[in-house]
Amino acid sequence: MDVWGRSHPPFLAGAKRVTAGVLAAALLVTLTAATGAAQAAARAGTRAAPSDALGVAPPDTPGVAPFEALGDSATEARPRPRVDCRRVKCVALTFDDGPGRHTGTLLRHLAKYHARATFFVLGSNVVTYPRVLRRTVAAGHEIGNHTWSHPLLTRLPAARVRSQIARTDRAVKAAAGVMPHLVRPPYGAFNRAVRRQIARPIVMWNVDTLDWRYRNSATVARRTLRSVRPGSIVLFHDIHRTTVGAMPRVLKSLAKRGYHFVTVSELFGGRPPHVAFGAAPPKKH
Ligand code: NI
Repeated sequence: MDVWGRSHPPFLAGAKRVTAGVLAAALLVTLTAATGAAQAAARAGTRAAPSDALGVAPPDTPGVAPFEALGDSATEARPRPRVDCRRVKCVALTFDDGPGRHTGTLLRHLAKYHARATFFVLGSNVVTYPRVLRRTVAAGHEIGNHTWSHPLLTRLPAARVRSQIARTDRAVKAAAGVMPHLVRPPYGAFNRAVRRQIARPIVMWNVDTLDWRYRNSATVARRTLRSVRPGSIVLFHDIHRTTVGAMPRVLKSLAKRGYHFVTVSELFGGRPPHVAFGAAPPKKH
């Protein structure tokens, strides 16, 4: 369904200064995790204001709040700490273009590590897999809006941009009872006109696993593990079996390195910036 060879496209980001509202499709360049300078610029330009929303910490573990008890089925959220990403290492794993037939397996992998993630769903897939979406929400994951049919929003008139988003909102609400508070435009492509139609945070990424290209779990895992830094937002696609197959290794290795797997909203203390590429790393103490 993607216009660039059935793939997710080159990662598109503002070349130098990333400022809300000034990204234009014509200026967008490929940015991967390897381009550290651009990544740093993106991070600096979109750093979230510190928030006190998740700031409660118990005496023993800095930055980690008491456990909250949630459900009990295999993919429902287990008791897990709430995390202050200003104080501990966090990473936001994000999965685009679903839900799909591999999403259920992914939910089991995530549950095993008490990991939360963010799913940028297509409305057209939500109506096909409403139960999968319900399970995703029940497991404590965050749902973002990735439009209805994955168009290039920069080429659509304003009314159609709005309807792509609104129709997906309605499908998510009908299937799982929640409203997506985040939007990720297809291909990461947006401009000022698109932004005007989307009055909520736009979530990009600063680690592109290129999982749509490398349909090999070992390669996807390796690329992910060498690129993730504290505060990273990582782009995956849960419509690919190979991506889901990479997750046990990704989760195991990052957990061993001390990462907390959080939703995008959690990464920013509940207040994502207007345009998010990643968060600042935690302060040392
Ligand atoms: Ni996509």
